[in-house]
Amino acid sequence: MVAVSTNGAAGTQVPAASLRNAWVKFGQFTAIQDISLEIEAGAFYSILGPSGCGKSTLLRLVSDLIPPAAGEVSVFGKTTEAARLAREFAFVFQDATLLPWRSALKNVELPLEIGRSRGIDIPVSDKTPMELLELVGLKGRENALPHELSGGMRQRVAIARALVCQPKLLLMDEPFGALDEMTRDHLNLQLLKVWEETGVTILFVTHSIPEAVFLGQKVLMLKAHPGRLHEIVDIDLPYPRSIAQRDTPEFTRYSAHLRGLLEAC
Ligand SMILES: Nc1ncnc2c1ncn2[C@@H]1O[C@H](COP(=O)(O)OP(=O)(O)OP(=O)(O)O)[C@@H](O)[C@H]1O
Ligand SMILES: [Mg+2]
Repeated sequence: MVAVSTNGAAGTQVPAASLRNAWVKFGQFTAIQDISLEIEAGAFYSILGPSGCGKSTLLRLVSDLIPPAAGEVSVFGKTTEAARLAREFAFVFQDATLLPWRSALKNVELPLEIGRSRGIDIPVSDKTPMELLELVGLKGRENALPHELSGGMRQRVAIARALVCQPKLLLMDEPFGALDEMTRDHLNLQLLKVWEETGVTILFVTHSIPEAVFLGQKVLMLKAHPGRLHEIVDIDLPYPRSIAQRDTPEFTRYSAHLRGLLEAC
């Protein structure tokens, strides 16, 4: 079983992710320039920035999909490769990418089946796949096929599937970007519940300023040409958060500040 940090203990442990003077290049093109950053274990970071500034590249760097051209990247004190092999992180993309012929439950179980069939000793969540589906509000829909579910439901299956190997870090790249506003609000609340119940660290890329403020303890703002760190904004709003908080002057102030930063990018 993997020891999972609690949100309350954030900052007292090995960082979930650490970048030291990290660069990413594609040929001559610099996608990420000299980013140094520490993500505390158990934290929730939203990531904002103009299109092409390197948000997805940053997640791919942390998840061992691309190597740094220079600098160092570690995940829970390990190399990104070691962290990948130990299933320390999981990815959730904008498209749920479920297997269409498998039920919701069977999709959630898939990473466990793959691990078993390859004889790999993978970490297993202390919640069963059914309990994970319940956690994301899909109790009763476990036998539905992906085409029988709404887009929001499919994303929830993808989140449950991402949690099945008890990752300590969840990398989310615009997971709710294709959903309508009401569904997105609902999933934002559910994601916060998942975060609070599991203690998982979350890096959440979004284009939506309200979503970034609503979810994050911090918002990491990137700049483009080349992609680099612009500012890290602490969102000092109490949890559990509620939709009504969006109407408060504090929320509006954070949003206005971030909008100003985005316009200056
Ligand atoms: N495999 C690749 N080869 C060449 N260039 C790449 C590659 N992947 C990304 N890039 C370039 O790196 C830059 C950053 O891309 P990235 O996808 O990280 O941006 P982003 O901030 O996620 O954008 P968006 O908000 O549109 O999703 C872009 O200019 C992109 O064209
Ligand atoms: Mg992207």
